[in-house]
Amino acid sequence: MKKRKRKNSPPFNFPLAKGGKRGVGIFISLEGIEGTGKSTQARMLSEYLIKKRYETALTEEPGGTAISREIRKVLLSTKHDKMDYMAELLLYNAARIQHIKEKIVPELAKGKIVITDRFSDSTAAYQGYGRGISLRLIDSLDRIATGRMRPDLTILLDLDVETGLRRNKHINKVDRLELEDVRFHKKVREGFLKLAAKEPKRIKLVKASKSIAEIHREIVRIVEKVLE
Ligand SMILES: Nc1ncnc2c1ncn2[C@@H]1O[C@H](COP(=O)(O)OP(=O)(O)OP(=O)(O)O)[C@@H](O)[C@H]1O
Ligand SMILES: [Mg+2]
Repeated sequence: MKKRKRKNSPPFNFPLAKGGKRGVGIFISLEGIEGTGKSTQARMLSEYLIKKRYETALTEEPGGTAISREIRKVLLSTKHDKMDYMAELLLYNAARIQHIKEKIVPELAKGKIVITDRFSDSTAAYQGYGRGISLRLIDSLDRIATGRMRPDLTILLDLDVETGLRRNKHINKVDRLELEDVRFHKKVREGFLKLAAKEPKRIKLVKASKSIAEIHREIVRIVEKVLE
């Protein structure tokens, strides 16, 4: 009989790690729409864990490796307003393959806690719920790109669209996705909330309207539970 692959198994084998507080690492993602504080909180969480002497790697999507950063430039340039939605979806997946292979899996194999600022839920939310590409197609591509690898824990920072976009305007941050209208971002936000409702054990919702320090404390509480 043919051996069936475990549903959530990663596309690459994890060798057992030497050292580290756990045998194999822990994979954490931060998700949410623009300006919710993902990068701020990812950085703060990583600094907290390093202080607690956990081996930690902080990374981001699209990005995390030289090739993926090149793809990021193509994806986020405001000059690329002609980009086809399907080309966009494939580029995100291409960047993710390199990120998993060159960065996420090697760091997890060393027993590290890997924190990524965005991962595959962003693709389901933006390209699926936002752009309207079929979730089945997105899932088929995800199977090729990640083998349906999922973080052990996902923190979803939820905030109303207007506040998020306003926060980014303050720091003059503009990219191609941010230029989309408010309706698009509302669909993406709803998409994230639907994903969280589907996988409540993995995806933990955190209200991002609170202060940076309060959100950090809440994230630490959630992460500590996973580390126990
Ligand atoms: N809880 C908060 N309250 C008020 N301002 C915040 C909060 N969190 C972050 N900010 C500020 O909002 C701006 C955007 O934050 P940040 O870059 O962390 O968001 P992001 O989710 O990574 O955004 P993007 O999706 O564009 O990458 C920054 O100027 C940051 O200091
Ligand atoms: Mg960010």
